[in-house]
Amino acid sequence: MSIATSSEITADHLAVIPKSVETQPPAPAPIMAVRNVSKGYGSGATRVGVLNGINLNLREGEFLAVVGFSGSGKTTLAQLLAGLVKPDSGEITMDGEPVTGPGPERGLVFQNYSLLPWLTVRGNIALSVDRVFQSWSKTQRREHVDRFVELVGLTHAIHRRPHELSGGMRQRVSLARTLAMKPKVLLLDEPLSALDALTRSVMQDEILKIWQEEKQTCLMITNDVDEAILVADRIVPLNPGPDAGLGPAFTVGLERPRDKTELNHNERFKHLRNAVTNYLVAVRQRARSRETQKGGAVEIQRPDIQPVDLTLPRKAILNSPI
Ligand SMILES: Nc1ncnc2c1ncn2[C@@H]1O[C@H](COP(=O)(O)OP(=O)(O)OP(=O)(O)O)[C@@H](O)[C@H]1O
Ligand SMILES: [Mg+2]
Repeated sequence: MSIATSSEITADHLAVIPKSVETQPPAPAPIMAVRNVSKGYGSGATRVGVLNGINLNLREGEFLAVVGFSGSGKTTLAQLLAGLVKPDSGEITMDGEPVTGPGPERGLVFQNYSLLPWLTVRGNIALSVDRVFQSWSKTQRREHVDRFVELVGLTHAIHRRPHELSGGMRQRVSLARTLAMKPKVLLLDEPLSALDALTRSVMQDEILKIWQEEKQTCLMITNDVDEAILVADRIVPLNPGPDAGLGPAFTVGLERPRDKTELNHNERFKHLRNAVTNYLVAVRQRARSRETQKGGAVEIQRPDIQPVDLTLPRKAILNSPI
């Protein structure tokens, strides 16, 4: 094989030469960045490390899903991003500025709804809307609230208080309240977990519609891998704790809009579902065997009781020694 001299090098030759790092366009700065963040609860000997050395870039306009097992620290991560809890070490920034507390540009839909019990559906949503859109007229704000109440299908319940709503209805109020604030970054902590399958499906579509219309950046926490693939551009698993770290990001790469019924037959969807699920199962197994090795074999103390023989007559059972 002959080697081309510089005079013989054509565009075809150049096309196969990988671009050097310097000539590639720089990656845009993330809208939110998590840098080496650790967080635990308690102090001294009772301290439990929840997250350890978390690094994450949330890119402007992307839909990122975080998946993980219960108790791994997903809510803790969402609360750190929202500024509701502070990292023990490391830093979180938004648009390059450190996050030091909650702000209207980062809206969090809480996993446990957190509605004010003395306010109606409209009142709960209006409280946030009135605070964020102070320059709007009263009528404008009211119409805005009512639009989001309608969006989550609660117009019929607009005057009800939280105790008069089902769990799923409360979750929808919580979602409407955050969406209505139009935050730049939408943080959704399992926002659909209390909904029935049909309502969940409708709300998934609504969230995607709003995200696309408003050009928001969205981080959604879910324990449902199918849901993550349906909504997200990237999926990041949170490894099981204690001291949980993030796993590798899975790029979804499926065209939008995504049709749920078609997805089930899509090879990439099936491949991704297996890849993410297998990853989660593998890291959980590894975490469990690590815990067992650390603590040695766990001896379970069994209670010193004998089972009662229910075939005996009632009197004999009552008189038998315990
Ligand atoms: N305020 C707190 N004080 C003490 N421990 C806490 C606190 N909040 C969370 N934890 C502990 O931190 C760990 C992670 O909790 P977190 O709520 O972040 O998990 P999660 O992944 O959101 O779980 P789930 O899927 O069940 O919602 C758990 O062991 C939990 O008990
Ligand atoms: Mg949680």
